[in-house]
Amino acid sequence: MKDMQKIVIEGRRSLEGVVNISGSKNASLPIMAATLLTSEICSIRNLPNLRDIDSFSELMNSFGANIDKLDHAINICCDNINNLTAHYDLVKKMRASILVLGPMVARFARAKVSLPGGCAIGLRPINLHIDALKKMGATGSVEKGYIILEAPSGLHGADIYFPKITVTGTENILMAASLAKGRTIIHNAAKEPEVVALANILNKMGAYIYGAGTDKIVVDGVERLGGFEEAVIYDRIETGTFIAAVAAAKGEVLLKNAKIDMLECPVSIFDEMGVIIEKTEKGVKVSCDKGLKPANIYTAPYPGFPTDLQAQIMADLSLAYGTSIINENIFENRFMHVAELSRMGADIKVSGKQAVVKGVKHLTGANVMATDLRASASLVVAGLAANGTTVIDRAYHIDRGYESIEKKLQAVGARIWRES
Ligand code: EPU
Repeated sequence: MKDMQKIVIEGRRSLEGVVNISGSKNASLPIMAATLLTSEICSIRNLPNLRDIDSFSELMNSFGANIDKLDHAINICCDNINNLTAHYDLVKKMRASILVLGPMVARFARAKVSLPGGCAIGLRPINLHIDALKKMGATGSVEKGYIILEAPSGLHGADIYFPKITVTGTENILMAASLAKGRTIIHNAAKEPEVVALANILNKMGAYIYGAGTDKIVVDGVERLGGFEEAVIYDRIETGTFIAAVAAAKGEVLLKNAKIDMLECPVSIFDEMGVIIEKTEKGVKVSCDKGLKPANIYTAPYPGFPTDLQAQIMADLSLAYGTSIINENIFENRFMHVAELSRMGADIKVSGKQAVVKGVKHLTGANVMATDLRASASLVVAGLAANGTTVIDRAYHIDRGYESIEKKLQAVGARIWRES
């Protein structure tokens, strides 16, 4: 069974060659949700081949969307939506399903979406999404684990102040506001490149959005939106993960199509650690041939250090000469990988949201368990550097967000494979 698959790594082989970076998972999902805003055909290219994309297609399919899945592309047409309920079975697989809430209420005046429940990395409530939609005129109730939002006379523009920066919250409101009556101003908006990518596509569909990429976004609602054809931006977190892999395993790899300008903060930290990163015409060249220096990391919303790279850089820092401090400021439980890295010989002490990582000389291969997507990526990074064989159980976590990670790593010389 696919869910029982393990990833096996024989460590300590340096990496040389080229890795093709895929389209961004976290940019693709809101763009797929945005197709609910129009009855016209939407064509999305450079779509990564991931489990989360398949789950989102299944969700869209359950609403009655017409889906034509091609090679790294998808055509979605929402001209015949006949179900406005996102079922628990689909939502529990992927919290990003909440992204359908805004577009659905905006276009169909109703949405019923299962509350996602707990998550391996933190509580992850969705109160900010719901409060903002209510400010735009939706009324809501919770019934049997589902949030039901209704706006029989349509949504209207509003001044939304997010007390905390939320990426998918900002995306939900951008989509809803595009079809609302009047002007919406989002204050304390998320500035992530994926938010900007969504705003660009919404503008292509006929929306009027100004200021995406800053903390104040203004949206002037329109009556209807049209289809689009657009390529997804490249994945900055996959890029950062491969930089972490080269830092751990050593070698020189060209990350084809990668964009360094979406990764300024992590690149400056890797630079401090002794990893050489260069922008080239074809992408980003990363090389490392010596031991790593320690670094202190504070995860923060963009342009700060991404929480989605915290686990991977921790694997690197567990091998640095000296002590590093990592503060996880976004999610309250995103240190699940620590116990697994410790099984491989890492010396890490966690206290609340802080981890103190004392570099050790070697990691040793072990049987470890993937607990979530980025935690599993950190175990791959550690396995590439470790002496001996690492076996990562529950490999399905990694397939949610990394396309063919073992094939990409094999191509640059790693000994990594899958076993059932
Ligand atoms: N929060 C609330 N209430 C809300 C929404 C968020 O309290 O209504 C809190 C969260 O609990 C968290 C913080 O606000 O403490 C920020 O969460 P955010 O809403 O920004 O996270 P998200 O939108 O659910 C996206 C990514 C995550 C990434 C985070 C932070 C997508 C589909 N997901 O999640 O990606 O970690 O932003 O950058 O874009 C991943 O790819 O591995 C992943 C988890």
